[in-house]
Amino acid sequence: MASPVGARSRTPGGTVRILAPAKINLGLAVLGRRGDGYHELLTLFQAVSLCDRLTLRRRRNGVRVRCPALPGLGPDNLAHRAAVLFLERTGAAGGVEIDIEKRIPAGGGLGGGSSDAAAALVGCCTLFGVRATAEQVRSWAARLGSDVPFFVEGGAAMGTGRGEAVQPVESWQGEATALIHIPPRGLATAAVYGRLDRSALTGDRRRFSILLARWGKGDLRRLGAALFNDLEGAAFALNPRLAAVKDALRAEGASGALLCGSGSSVVGLFADPAGAGRAERVLRGRFPGRFVRTHFLGSRKRWGVVKR
Ligand code: C5P
Repeated sequence: MASPVGARSRTPGGTVRILAPAKINLGLAVLGRRGDGYHELLTLFQAVSLCDRLTLRRRRNGVRVRCPALPGLGPDNLAHRAAVLFLERTGAAGGVEIDIEKRIPAGGGLGGGSSDAAAALVGCCTLFGVRATAEQVRSWAARLGSDVPFFVEGGAAMGTGRGEAVQPVESWQGEATALIHIPPRGLATAAVYGRLDRSALTGDRRRFSILLARWGKGDLRRLGAALFNDLEGAAFALNPRLAAVKDALRAEGASGALLCGSGSSVVGLFADPAGAGRAERVLRGRFPGRFVRTHFLGSRKRWGVVKR
């Protein structure tokens, strides 16, 4: 039987704390444009240790989400919508309030909003004692956004369709420190997709196959050379400085570097934390914004939910 998500306790209530990690995409192939306006993707997601933190409590009715970093947050917020969807789908009695401590910036391509939404779904399962399978929670998640299903379990996974159809892949078997640069200004996902050069959408899956084969081998140098993101052309056209960050990461010893999702963050992979630290010191003087050193996270089963 598929393992249940989030329901560690049969006693509902109390306080649930749950982490919502960021993700990077180590490969992102845009295969073509679909009739529904989305793009058909092949992508390799990896959850990383930069995390938002959510605290969930029951309330008498309705949904309330608070986040000091997001003033004016309303019912269109993804975590809010996730909680509403949970209550609708499960018929759970009462309401929920969610406090979000935000560390993952918006507009960075790191999936923060999507991850908060997935964490809200999983956290609600625990809070209300609802035993749902990961597959079921992913089907709710897919209604909220293309990246949300990945974050139900996190870890490393391949995404197909518009990114919402996820299949876990084995964990990375080597060392890796991911140094992420987060520029002061984000990019809007729709704007980046909207700028894609359609003639470049060839449906070519070969680079992705090469990437997956190297993923299984644990050699970071060889993996680094296979990283790719078809959204880079469009994102770099919108902000040419991002290409310079990528080049600088490579020049300072990254095994590979690429745009995170639809940007504007750029990540470099390093064999050890010291190498990432040296690169960070050099780049900090050249590029405004934040730098975060992260490591790859395994599946949520290992670190997910704490209930008190
Ligand atoms: O699914 P989500 O709401 O996160 O997508 C945001 C926007 O990104 C979509 O409205 C669409 O413009 C673009 N997108 C796309 N193809 C995908 C995923 C997202 O064109 N596979």
